[in-house]
Amino acid sequence: MLYPQPARWCKALLACAMLLSSYAGAAEKLAHVTILATGGTIAGSGATSTTTVGYTAATVGVNQLIAAVPELAKVADVKGEQVFQIASENMSNEHWLKLAQRVNTLLAQPDVDGIVITHGTDTLEETAYFLDLTVKSRKPVVLVGAMRPGTALSADGPINLYNAVLLAASQEAVGKGVLVAMNDQIHAARDVTKTNTSTPDSFKTPELGMLGYIQGNKPYFYHVPARKHTADTEFDVSKLSALPQVDIVYGYANVGPVALNALVAAGAKGIVHAGVGDGSLATPVKAALVAARKQGVLIVRSSRVGQGIVARNGEANDDELDFVASDTLNPQKARILLMLALTKTTDSKQIQRMFATY
Ligand code: DGL
Repeated sequence: MLYPQPARWCKALLACAMLLSSYAGAAEKLAHVTILATGGTIAGSGATSTTTVGYTAATVGVNQLIAAVPELAKVADVKGEQVFQIASENMSNEHWLKLAQRVNTLLAQPDVDGIVITHGTDTLEETAYFLDLTVKSRKPVVLVGAMRPGTALSADGPINLYNAVLLAASQEAVGKGVLVAMNDQIHAARDVTKTNTSTPDSFKTPELGMLGYIQGNKPYFYHVPARKHTADTEFDVSKLSALPQVDIVYGYANVGPVALNALVAAGAKGIVHAGVGDGSLATPVKAALVAARKQGVLIVRSSRVGQGIVARNGEANDDELDFVASDTLNPQKARILLMLALTKTTDSKQIQRMFATY
């Protein structure tokens, strides 16, 4: 039969209409995810396909990143914004304030369901924690990077970006705090850290554990963050244009107070001491910290070790010295919490409470 009977025409047209409406319906149902691009290796390029070190970070724009992963359209309605284009070793307090303010503005919009932030991996854990303490929403915010540039063989950026968008579009990620999606894994902003200079499995949460996996186009959570974050935060950066100056001094054998005294003289409002062991203080440094405290500088004892609790009144009498212990926060994250704490108070007992809360 050359031409189908009219009745069959109607059935075919009806089938097409139902198919189109299902696609339209599915498109309507896709979550709206905004990708905020800041630079880094995920936006990097190298001279050859085997250049996995010695490439240039922050060369590819957000629209190119999105175009390189057409599968994104299946999991979310994606929009891109280029907020910065920097290698993340150059991330600054001013960048963080601008980013947090943009994230909060977008998440307050009913037509934004989640946010992905593409970022260099060098300070990704810091930006993630800063946002974990300043985002005023339960909507997903997911940070993602890459350990290899997009020009490299087996580049990890495209699949990391796909997983991050899928996670940000998911209901499962709602209310879980700021997340880091790398290497098919889901990590909490507070506890994740970069553990290798160059391998794709660099991001780990060594002892406290990652939250879950992204596998087969689905996120799987096995844990939830135990500390306060995002919508429960007491910090508000919406009207800030600067943050108090807080610096880190490193502990090691034969250390002296020169670096510490220089930072205090330069006007630091807070010092994080990355001590050896359980936050131990070498005698000359302890004396300089006590002097700094007497000048009103807030002192937090952290540890260079990377895992474990820095116990209050353990290696130093914090009650007597009026120091704060960093709990399990590594020095770079302790700096972030101390900076934000100093936007609210200089009371060391209140600040110690904050280190037990977030
Ligand atoms: N310059 C580093 C950065 O932008 C490259 C590392 C990376 O992004 O993976 O963080």
